Amino acid sequence: MKRSTEIGTDILRAANELRNGELVAIPTETVYGLAGNALERESVIKIFEAKNRPQFDPLIIHTHASSEFEKYADFDPRILTWVDQLSPGPITYILKKKTIIPDLVTSGHDTVGLRIPRHPMTLELLKSLDFPLAAPSANPFGYVSPTRASHVKDQLDGRLPYILDGGDAEVGIESTIIDLSSERPAVLRLGGFELAELEKVFEQKLEDIRLSSSQPNAPGMLHSHYAPGVQLSKLSIAELKKQYPEKRIGALRFSTYSEELPNEAQILLSESGSITEAAQRLFMCLRQLDKTNWDVVSVEFAPEEGLGLAINDRLTRATHQQ
Ligand code: TXA
Ligand code: MG
Repeated sequence: MKRSTEIGTDILRAANELRNGELVAIPTETVYGLAGNALERESVIKIFEAKNRPQFDPLIIHTHASSEFEKYADFDPRILTWVDQLSPGPITYILKKKTIIPDLVTSGHDTVGLRIPRHPMTLELLKSLDFPLAAPSANPFGYVSPTRASHVKDQLDGRLPYILDGGDAEVGIESTIIDLSSERPAVLRLGGFELAELEKVFEQKLEDIRLSSSQPNAPGMLHSHYAPGVQLSKLSIAELKKQYPEKRIGALRFSTYSEELPNEAQILLSESGSITEAAQRLFMCLRQLDKTNWDVVSVEFAPEEGLGLAINDRLTRATHQQ
């Protein structure tokens, strides 16, 4: 049995583990990340191994200030006026990479994802280090992202020495990824930064590469991501009842209980109908589904506005049939 993973709030301890080439789970405003020294191949290999992540799926690099970007990427400095309006925050920028970044981090691509997370503990940690942190979401590959320290421990216990506990993630959904490496800014992943707000800052409609291409540009955007263990379905409760008369049916609903099932067989994303709260609770609710004895779950989508777009993106993946 490997040493069990400790959870705590000791930023110095986290920094020392990372300096020793170990992995530490870090809190961010979006989800917890599984972090290692981005400039050291051995640490990066440990990240892929701990997550069982295929090496074709590149990692995002976390740093504490936009003034650090020039160490890791080549770009038109005018981009920084956008970055400084949007970061720290739930957004990742894809830029042309410099050679200091190991190819392993970017899966051989000539671009790198850079992000300044907003969580104060992680910002302090990043400031205290003289290297940036590569950090994917701290979940086994293909599973739901963790939004609290115990989620990381539940799934990766023994695979890292330390989890820095920063409480529940404020946004709850991964960062929006925007590609600034070619002529026109384009969105690769919908996420915690609302598209409409981004378009205000960029003063233009952002191209949605995610929708227009059959080949995902964010290589990790596989159709069947975010899958909890229980079967999720886009069918309504009534349709499921008809199709599976002998199965235990449950429902994940946006904000209201359906009369088709007892309330105990339903989970609400936000009782008050708040899209922000629904985003915060989404991954926790998907985890909760695994603890029920339901065979199949009817999933209701969020309103298609604001963060609802990112929520529905995750729910579409979670309900994707292999
Ligand atoms: O909010 C977040 O972004 C969280 C926290 C921990 O920062 N991180 C996160 O990492 O969601 P991960 O590895 O679970 O998802 C990163 C996504 C993947 O889909 C990956 O393919 C894409 O970013 N990505 C990373 N580098 C890329 C690059 N150079 N070009 C295109 N996509 C990239
Ligand atoms: Mg992930």
